[in-house]
Amino acid sequence: MNRYQFLKKSARGVALTTLLPSLAFCTTNGQQKTIPGNYNVNESFNPETDIELTAAPSELQLFSGNKTNVYTYQSKLLKGEQYALEKLAGSHLCPVIRVKQGQKIRIRFKNQLPRESVIHWHGLHIPPEMDGHPMYAIENGEQYIYEFEVNNRPGTYWFHPHPDKITGPQVYQGLAGLFIVEDNNSGLPSGENDVPLIIQDRMFDNSNQLVYLQNNRMGQMQGFLGNRVLVNGNPDTTFNVSKSTYWFRVLNGSNSRIYKLAWNDGEDVIVIGADGGLLEKPVKKPYLMLAPGQRAEIWKDFSGQNTGNEIQLQSLAFSDGTSMGMGGGMMGRGMGGGMMQPDGVENGIAFNVAAFKVTENTGKKMELPSKLSTITPLNPTNAVNSGNPRQFHFYNQRMQWVINGETFGMTEVAEWEKVKLNTTEMWEFINSDNGRGMGMMQDMMRMPHPVHLHGLQFQIIEREVSGMQRAVWESVKDGFMDDGWQDTFLLMPGMKVKIMMKFEDFKGIYVYHCHNLEHEDMGMMRNYEVTD
Ligand code: C2O
Ligand code: CU
Repeated sequence: MNRYQFLKKSARGVALTTLLPSLAFCTTNGQQKTIPGNYNVNESFNPETDIELTAAPSELQLFSGNKTNVYTYQSKLLKGEQYALEKLAGSHLCPVIRVKQGQKIRIRFKNQLPRESVIHWHGLHIPPEMDGHPMYAIENGEQYIYEFEVNNRPGTYWFHPHPDKITGPQVYQGLAGLFIVEDNNSGLPSGENDVPLIIQDRMFDNSNQLVYLQNNRMGQMQGFLGNRVLVNGNPDTTFNVSKSTYWFRVLNGSNSRIYKLAWNDGEDVIVIGADGGLLEKPVKKPYLMLAPGQRAEIWKDFSGQNTGNEIQLQSLAFSDGTSMGMGGGMMGRGMGGGMMQPDGVENGIAFNVAAFKVTENTGKKMELPSKLSTITPLNPTNAVNSGNPRQFHFYNQRMQWVINGETFGMTEVAEWEKVKLNTTEMWEFINSDNGRGMGMMQDMMRMPHPVHLHGLQFQIIEREVSGMQRAVWESVKDGFMDDGWQDTFLLMPGMKVKIMMKFEDFKGIYVYHCHNLEHEDMGMMRNYEVTD
């Protein structure tokens, strides 16, 4: 069976028959409906920034010897300030789009990939037809026009492909970029001291080509895990820094790998921002858990270092609670360092992510502000269902990752996935069992799931861990940063997490899913619908 097969028979047996610029399909109740996508430029929309992004195969000199075949977003600024579109310094892979809050932007997406694709603007609060739902995927040679106003708080957002069943391989091949909503905050490091760090793991063969899940369903069940870590698309990364203060915008852009980030100089990780921008005040952590899809903004002061010092950003060892009877026996295998391992390195192995070498004496030391921004906490009494939150069980059912027993259907929305516009809700995510008690089989099939909701930012209200294995909890417990606004959070085996959010401005269908991209591709994704 071809797992990239596009036409999907959904769990309820509704087959999509066509995907054309105007998508005609039958809903579950048999009605004929048309969803108009945005395939042409809207002349009355007047953007500050107008960009052309073309997804296409390309090749990069990542190592000596053979070039590596990748996919890239080739980008062109048609209108706007130069800063609005740049390549990430030192990276061949990653375009960075910079906008200011309140600006309008148009992105003309052209697909030159062999397969269908669509762009999701991860973290942005925009209308459903602009959000990159898989139903708006376009084929090779087609184009999609994204036009929206950026209402999000200043922060580090990102974009990546989102076609049904093939998001994992497309991101893996190199398609991901940053979408930074700029802050005018002068109390923070800027310019060369404002540095994005995109962390991804990969695997290469002897001719320097990317190796993706070749194995089997078990590999996909686990998710892709590589044996080399890339930062901003480069292997073995060392940054030259000055004796000054830095703002690192860290994105975990990996398919499945979770990082337990720490400095090796004994200093705490100082977190100043989350998915949805700056926190109210800095939070210090001995280490920070960062799951796929999540961002963290980290403050780091090198001004007390001596020239020549090298500080490592590391991922420390932890137990991810996985007990699927696979991947065992790999303990002790290292990551990176030029050592080629035949298999991926399992989640929770320690390795160095990037080195920071102090090469310059000059630079500016900055004082860590005690107040960074204002965050109004959502009040549980304002949720329409705070005493009785909607529950979403993430678990494994007969070798299939599911949400409340269901997998993705392109336009399928269950009753329990319909919410009302302008209401605040509390949702509870549960990584344990099928909701009917813990069976032995479920217990053997548990994994961490990074949960992501499209279309909005939420607040984390509560993390309940009494169902977790003690040793697992002990190995990660100081690394959760639940302040501020989030769009993705890590749901460990046995954990329950309550979040709150308000559904506002836009009606329609958005997806929510596991951001382990292989789980997502297997169908661990569902729609929610905002209705009147
Ligand atoms: Cu970053 Cu639906 O994903
Ligand atoms: Cu998952």
